[in-house]
Amino acid sequence: MARFIDELKRNAHCGELRAQDENREVVLFGWVASYRDHGGCVFVDLRDREGITQLVFDPNREGHGNLPRTAYELAQTLRSEWVIGVRGLVVGRGANKNPRLATGEIEVHVVELSVFNKAETPPFEILDELDTSEEKRLQYRYLDLRRAPLQRTLRTRHRIHQTTRRYFDDKGFLELETPFMVKYTPGGARNFLVPSRVHPGKVYALAESPQLFKQLYMIAGFDRYFQIVKCFRDEDPRLDRQPEFTQIDVEMSFVSQTDVFRTMEGLIFRLWKEVLGIDLHDLYPSGRFPEMPFEESMKHYGNDKPDLRFELPHTDLTSLVIEHGGGGIPFFKDIADKFRDGTYRRDLPAQIVKALRVPAQVAGQSLSRTEVDKLEDFVKGMGAKGLARAKVDLEGNWTQSPLAKTVTPEMRRAINQAVGAGDGDLILFQFGKESVVQTVMANLRVHLAKKLKMIPEVGHGGQFKFLWVVDPPLFEYDDDAKTWVAAHHAFTRPHDEHVGLIDKDPGKVLCHRYDLVLNGFEIGGGSIRLHDPVVQAKVFAAMGIADEDARQKFGFLLDALRFGAPPHGGIAVGMDRLAMLMAGAESLRDVIPFPKTQKGTDLMTDAPTRPTADQLAELRIRVIEPPTS
Ligand code: AMO
Repeated sequence: MARFIDELKRNAHCGELRAQDENREVVLFGWVASYRDHGGCVFVDLRDREGITQLVFDPNREGHGNLPRTAYELAQTLRSEWVIGVRGLVVGRGANKNPRLATGEIEVHVVELSVFNKAETPPFEILDELDTSEEKRLQYRYLDLRRAPLQRTLRTRHRIHQTTRRYFDDKGFLELETPFMVKYTPGGARNFLVPSRVHPGKVYALAESPQLFKQLYMIAGFDRYFQIVKCFRDEDPRLDRQPEFTQIDVEMSFVSQTDVFRTMEGLIFRLWKEVLGIDLHDLYPSGRFPEMPFEESMKHYGNDKPDLRFELPHTDLTSLVIEHGGGGIPFFKDIADKFRDGTYRRDLPAQIVKALRVPAQVAGQSLSRTEVDKLEDFVKGMGAKGLARAKVDLEGNWTQSPLAKTVTPEMRRAINQAVGAGDGDLILFQFGKESVVQTVMANLRVHLAKKLKMIPEVGHGGQFKFLWVVDPPLFEYDDDAKTWVAAHHAFTRPHDEHVGLIDKDPGKVLCHRYDLVLNGFEIGGGSIRLHDPVVQAKVFAAMGIADEDARQKFGFLLDALRFGAPPHGGIAVGMDRLAMLMAGAESLRDVIPFPKTQKGTDLMTDAPTRPTADQLAELRIRVIEPPTS
């Protein structure tokens, strides 16, 4: 029988021992983090998930017969990342304390040592700070995960999971599962397809979310559901997007939008308190997060997930430009001409003019002409044609600006006033197709704030700025397909007072859809669902979906809605994004144990791989090879 593990049981962790443990006999297991042989003794830093303890192998330690010498001799063979067990005595370090280690007051003088396993030299050292490439770290993710920062992050994540479960259980929610292999339904994110061997030529879709099933739970009378669930979307990964990610998914019956908000605020407050030790009441004394209409968010920030940790709002100049017939600026005149009848047509690709004022005190210090030229390159990278600008002087005149030559004094004054520009301020402009202008200006706002250091860092006295973005349009116009489509999904409830507009002016119909935003990230989204089949039929009609089509696409849900669906609504919070922001991490990859790369690959297992000819034959699938470039 092995002496360690079978007989000698671990009785302490490597992060645990303090001065009061002196003279205790301990058994520790772990990895050799570092190794030094000097002064006739061997020193080892032993690591486990709780921390590091210094071990001393002194061959002359008395009172244990020959054991310390045997341990010392074996210790001389140790190398990094070997897995060992030791029995020894906790000894105070006196004046040699190591203040950088939680266990720095003590060391363990080893009497017995066992090597459980040797290790090859790892491809990188297991250090807190590394300059090893991310590719290499992902390839050896299990080694990367040994590092303290990742161990800490995954613990944070564990605590988020446990607190979430306790919170919803306390509130009477049932944690119920939903299938991953589902029927493909159109709309929403692109699905991964899973071919069936039993049904050759047919596929399942991997669920992009439990949406339809959680609604079925409400129809089945479960009243309150939640689930911490994997979702799958075949999208291009980004820093805040993974093909396989986790949601805290919630659905409730007999609720209004505000009921959903209060429930989720309760969760967030509890998470911040229990996981981060932060009382959000200091920032939000009412216990509620502010709300902002979608339209206002688009107007001031260019998207529906504004980062409110800093100001830098946009000013929409479109109506001003129309009023002034372009105000002497040829580009503006083009736009004004399109609006001559004075109506804003949502069914036309709209053209808008927006401006952003960089205040003199920051612009003057940090934005030289070359810096502004660099900003122009930045926006061009997003599809902008350029970055028009104007520096305002004491009299309100514009300098350093191509627009200055032709702009009428009235237009200039009106713009200065609208954006609140004074001496030394810089005005940056974008104009053209609405979607491009909005995206460019939204990203420019964040880019500038980072550059001008206007964003407080999370976790360093930084702020957490939450926001509900509410009342977006139900439909958006698809320029390519020349039809209205659901802006989110076809089962979102319109505002009651807008139901009459569904067939007359779909663009004006607002709905009970909401997003929860934190520091510029959409961390959650949901809606009150449409449970009334009559209104449902109108929505499908507005999108040009015939009854038969609707049946084919959503048949089971439409059937279920006819059998007594309670009013219901819900939300899903992106667990990975939440964990990323709570842990102060830079990317989702830092909070997902085994993430995919920007290209959606797994560098450790090498997924995805090509199926073998036999697998393809069994599934009756033929591969169309991509064109070689
Ligand atoms: P939605 O599609 O808005 O809503 O997703 C909810 C939240 O999930 C997170 N999220 C992602 N996180 C990482 N990688 C991704 N690829 C990714 N996609 C989404 C975001 C987002 O806010 N069924 C609805 C919810 C509902 O209506 O109840 C849904 O899935 O943080």
